[in-house]
Amino acid sequence: MSKRTEDLFRKVYQPGSKEEQTAAYSEWAETYDSAMQESGYVSPPKLAALLAEHCGKESIVLDVGCGTGLSGEALADAGFETVDGIDISDGMLAEAAVKGVYRRLFEVDLFKGIPVEDGQYDAAFSTGTFTLGHVGPRQIPEVIRVLKPGGIFCLTVSDASWTDQNYEAELAALAGERFKIVYNELHDHVLSHSMQAHFLVLKKL
Ligand SMILES: C[S@@+](CC[C@H](N)C(=O)[O-])C[C@H]1O[C@@H](n2cnc3c(N)ncnc32)[C@H](O)[C@@H]1O
Repeated sequence: MSKRTEDLFRKVYQPGSKEEQTAAYSEWAETYDSAMQESGYVSPPKLAALLAEHCGKESIVLDVGCGTGLSGEALADAGFETVDGIDISDGMLAEAAVKGVYRRLFEVDLFKGIPVEDGQYDAAFSTGTFTLGHVGPRQIPEVIRVLKPGGIFCLTVSDASWTDQNYEAELAALAGERFKIVYNELHDHVLSHSMQAHFLVLKKL
């Protein structure tokens, strides 16, 4: 990995502020895909295969923190045809648009809410976004809100975040009558950094 990529990697995972992180992602957008491929980022296709085990290919899917669209491409490769993407970084969204795999892309800060009515999506999908310095367990109910009853949210939570942000207890407290956890296993996430992630499947009640 080049020195510049290492610097950008550091900037997005140890940001001083949300604005600095968003600017770093926009700066990184053009070379993000090659850097992630080089680093052995294996989660998007694995999580897309997991989503396909839990819902039909006709599902309308929301890709949360879609970035440059590596996740949207993995969903398309897994057979999902109708995918919308949201992300806080306009630079990342511009790269995602080039891939041509999204029905609609829109800029959203998950901390401020998703500008969509309740119950619009069959499924939601998120790789690499529920991680340190990005978004945490308390943003999960907002994603669940836009799912139809019985809808599925498939996401990765980096192992470091799982511990640091106390996911076990937070999920138990947040789930209530909103959702249940139907799958939770640790898998390889970024091979070059020996990073693992919890792969979760949440089902809206
Ligand atoms: C590591 S990238 C993952 C992108 C893509 N899902 C993938 O697997 O390649 C994390 C993404 O989360 C986005 N992000 C960070 N904070 C966010 C927030 N508050 N709301 C929405 N997106 C956010 C970043 O802009 C970035 O595109």
